[in-house]
Amino acid sequence: MATDALRPLVRKAYADAATKAAAVVPGKRPLACTPHSGLGCGSPTTIAGLTPGDWVLDLGCGAGFDCLAAAVEVGRRGRVVGVDMTPEMVRLASRHARDADVPTVSFVQAEIESLPFPDASFDVVMSNCVINLCADKQRIFAEAWRVLKPGGRLAVADIVAVALLPVELHGELALHTGCVAGATALEGLAAMLREAGFASAEIAIAQHGRSVIDSWAPGRAIQHFVAAANITATKQARDISR
Ligand SMILES: C[S@@+](CC[C@H](N)C(=O)[O-])C[C@H]1O[C@@H](n2cnc3c(N)ncnc32)[C@H](O)[C@@H]1O
Repeated sequence: MATDALRPLVRKAYADAATKAAAVVPGKRPLACTPHSGLGCGSPTTIAGLTPGDWVLDLGCGAGFDCLAAAVEVGRRGRVVGVDMTPEMVRLASRHARDADVPTVSFVQAEIESLPFPDASFDVVMSNCVINLCADKQRIFAEAWRVLKPGGRLAVADIVAVALLPVELHGELALHTGCVAGATALEGLAAMLREAGFASAEIAIAQHGRSVIDSWAPGRAIQHFVAAANITATKQARDISR
């Protein structure tokens, strides 16, 4: 599983990805034409049940594409905030929001284990292919729960481990920064969400993810060990246990 010692490597991998994308995409090129169309493994906006006026937080927003998609759903009364620990990604995402002229979206540089927002700030917390990169997954779910309003929803697309990764694959750094080796074990994920305070949780393996996952390390059969999953959960409308 991912450890905190890997964090500088994760940061560097995504700083490089952002720098490469920023160099390729000229300032005013329409978003639909960008070669860098996201580093996710699903589509959290399609499972989040977004409604006009929602305040949405995206954990590990990368270049901000899911935030821009969410902004369309929540409309002018809504707000979308993307958080990423990599300054290069925050700059790239901010540029994309400026280019797309979407003033309801903003980006903040922070670590998702320690969110710089008061309790009960958001209607929805979403994330796309980030939690697998982090060592302390329980803390991330607890932080998500904390910043959600009562009745708020969690919508996460992520890579989960469906079987133990062989030692030789687990040791490969590229598989850690590439969203494979730190995948949350599917077994125990529901308990982790409950422990964080979520009242109900659904975890569904997304079959379409198999070919994408295979393309990350061709010929290594990693799709036998990890899968893309859609994870949704809700915070009780009126919580009496905390
Ligand atoms: C695989 S990319 C996904 C980016 C985006 N969600 C998408 O779908 O394109 C992972 C992102 O998470 C960020 N990240 C990883 N660990 C993080 C942490 N602990 N706190 C904040 N951001 C983190 C990385 O900088 C990177 O931009």
